[in-house]
Amino acid sequence: MNKKFEEIVSLCKRRGFVYPTSEIYGGIASSYDYGPLGVQLLKNIKDLWWKEFIEKRADMVGIDSQIILHPKTWEASGHVGGFDELVVEDIVTNKRYRVDHLIENFIEKHKGFQELVVEDLTREEMAKFIVENKLKSPDGNTFSQPKKFDLLMRTSIGVLEGGKDDVYLRGETAQGIFSNFKNILDSTRVVLPFGVGQIGKSFRNEVTLGQFVFRTFEFEQAEIEYFFDPEKSNWEELLNAWKENMKNFVVNTLGVNEENTRWRKHTDKERSHYSKETFDLDYKFPFGWKELWGVAYRTNYDLNQHIKYSGAKLQYTDPYTSEKIVPHVIEPAVGVNRMFFMVLDNAYTVEETRVVLKLSPKLAPYKIAVFPLVSNKEEITKKAKQVFELLSDKYNTYWDDRGNIGKRYKYQDEIGTPYCITIDYDTLETGEVTVRDRDTMLQKKILIKNLDSYCKEQLM
Ligand code: GAP
Repeated sequence: MNKKFEEIVSLCKRRGFVYPTSEIYGGIASSYDYGPLGVQLLKNIKDLWWKEFIEKRADMVGIDSQIILHPKTWEASGHVGGFDELVVEDIVTNKRYRVDHLIENFIEKHKGFQELVVEDLTREEMAKFIVENKLKSPDGNTFSQPKKFDLLMRTSIGVLEGGKDDVYLRGETAQGIFSNFKNILDSTRVVLPFGVGQIGKSFRNEVTLGQFVFRTFEFEQAEIEYFFDPEKSNWEELLNAWKENMKNFVVNTLGVNEENTRWRKHTDKERSHYSKETFDLDYKFPFGWKELWGVAYRTNYDLNQHIKYSGAKLQYTDPYTSEKIVPHVIEPAVGVNRMFFMVLDNAYTVEETRVVLKLSPKLAPYKIAVFPLVSNKEEITKKAKQVFELLSDKYNTYWDDRGNIGKRYKYQDEIGTPYCITIDYDTLETGEVTVRDRDTMLQKKILIKNLDSYCKEQLM
């Protein structure tokens, strides 16, 4: 772990953004709970996504499907039998490693492999590379033969029809959109091109551990299936428009430094079985450039597969010509937890005297903190409570009357609260409070009666 990565993980625990899951029992690898600050930050990211991509657009609707879908869904989608990673096991510790990640690390540390693109290697070539280059595990041991490792998580529920009770926790939210395609057509007035979005938990038996919330077994995805008629809309134009929307959300809505983002096109060999073209929007995470958000042209592969496996008529009938087609899709798919990690990394700032999270006010878990200067003066507490009530109606506001003001500021800086408001003896005389700006640390006197409009101006 590099220094910044370690510091962010430590701040997350210290200030209640992220806790290791089941810590009192020793924890579970790659599993994290979100604390009081983390849950609010996650919600803010999801709300912004939902507003921008669902609510603000006439061509988009949202759904919320189940985590456990009919198991045939995953046969149709190609996940059963085809959603796996090539892994090797350390023969002494039995720890598992993804072969592509081992090769990537090896190439970075050794000369002479600059031309090699791991994504282009076949599974046989990867297995050969491990043997020929005598790769060792981080514990210095040799590896077992490479084998396939299923990513889809299995579970069981009460007996389903036909005595089958094996089901899967969804590996992507997308399939709940495809399987509801007909319901959406029948119950709404959508016309092509239109999109369906969903935010929800997905599950994968990930092999690579130790990347904090970047890669976990259980995570949240925000996915869109944008349906269109390939005879009437140009897929490349749509894909480019979605690339622009994605970048705009990251840079302008979430306020992330554009220099730490880049596009990467998937090579022909790397692309998923269903995709004709895929781009990743990468972010420069503390451990290097990694995928944040993918956009794929999935053609009409999924709808056709569900037609084949279910027998349902998943066709769109043009309301003007009555022509029937199975629409194609562009799919922008992002991990909410990766966006969460990205915005923390982007905001984390170490200054001479303090650590400060320079989060955009739209993202900050708390927008304002209200402090009575002292906690033992009834009039000051009463006035401060009035200010709190005035603001908390509109903004998520933090109340703190504990300890000295310096410590209260330090706490708010570390959780990214844009403004701190202090009510003191002068307030009782003049009606003015002190407003401190998180980023500049400058303080301003503002009349209580002007506070609401001041905050609105600063925070909206
Ligand atoms: N429906 C397409 C799909 O699921 P994906 O690239 O496998 O594509 C989409 O996943 C996004 O979900 C990724 O770009 C990433 O942000 C997020 N994601 C995938 N696996 C994850 C994991 N184990 N932990 C956290 N986020 C993950």
